[in-house]
Amino acid sequence: MSLTEFSARAPLASRNLFLPKVTMPTLGEMKRQGKPISALTAYDYPTARLVDETGIDLILVGDSLAMVMLGHENTLAVTVDEMLHHTRAVRRGTRRALVVADMPFGSYHDAVNQGVANAIRLVKEAGAEAVKIEGPRVELVRALVDAEVPVVGHLGLTPQSVLRMGGYRVQARTLDAVLQLQADAFALAHAGAGAIVLEGIPREAAAAITAALPIPTIGIGAGPDCDGQILVFHDLVNLTFAPAAKFVRRYGDASALFRSAVERYRLDVEHHAFPSDAESYHLPESARQLLSIGLDAEDARDNADAMVNRDAREEMNQA
Ligand code: KIV
Repeated sequence: MSLTEFSARAPLASRNLFLPKVTMPTLGEMKRQGKPISALTAYDYPTARLVDETGIDLILVGDSLAMVMLGHENTLAVTVDEMLHHTRAVRRGTRRALVVADMPFGSYHDAVNQGVANAIRLVKEAGAEAVKIEGPRVELVRALVDAEVPVVGHLGLTPQSVLRMGGYRVQARTLDAVLQLQADAFALAHAGAGAIVLEGIPREAAAAITAALPIPTIGIGAGPDCDGQILVFHDLVNLTFAPAAKFVRRYGDASALFRSAVERYRLDVEHHAFPSDAESYHLPESARQLLSIGLDAEDARDNADAMVNRDAREEMNQA
């Protein structure tokens, strides 16, 4: 049990208190006004709260959770049910940011109606406010928009194509490939996508597409000229147990912080230094006396239990 206040009514921290809710149209408006879109992944309630309360515009429940949360080698294994589970938690922790859920591998690759059905589950059962799909799946985007599901596209290095690509490689390295990527981005925009993630492409390609496209681009490993940027939360805070990719900037070292906290806790337990007397509940004086004069063992236990419980309840109520 933890008495930490996680209720939906807990006060909002810091700067998002007065900021309006971000919706898919907000992203288009930000592009028009030249305001950069900040985006991060989150996969659970506390991370979503932290990210949301700091004023990040878009939270992606990425299928990268397969790797950073569940320890898989790539993103292919994560299921629709797992995405639902994590999206629900993120939605509970988010008030302002737009919550986008990734459609996992296999949830839309078979048929358009399969993709629509799974996207509707993410909206209806988990509270996703948009879904993200990888690749130039124009027909699916059109069908999703017809079904009232906002869509974020994802082009360039699409991790669900890892087997076909033979690894994670920077894409669009030739003029032809850039032109194809630009055509795909336009096709997605015309089909109704509200934004497009551009991943792992040369800066110049991302800049050209961003300048030409009517909808925002959100880059990861695509240089600084996109309309917004996204990173995987665990990369940002060094919780991945792997060297960072070239495009990652580490803004904190949660790994070192957590290791040190856990290590100090373990040492304190081993040395009887935790918990202290101040971190303990106490019997009321009367019960202490009863205990010390040595009642019959069973009576003493009953009396003490009742008092400890009452005492603990009172202390918790005051906390
Ligand atoms: O799953 C994910 O985290 C992503 C981002 C890298 C864009 O798709």
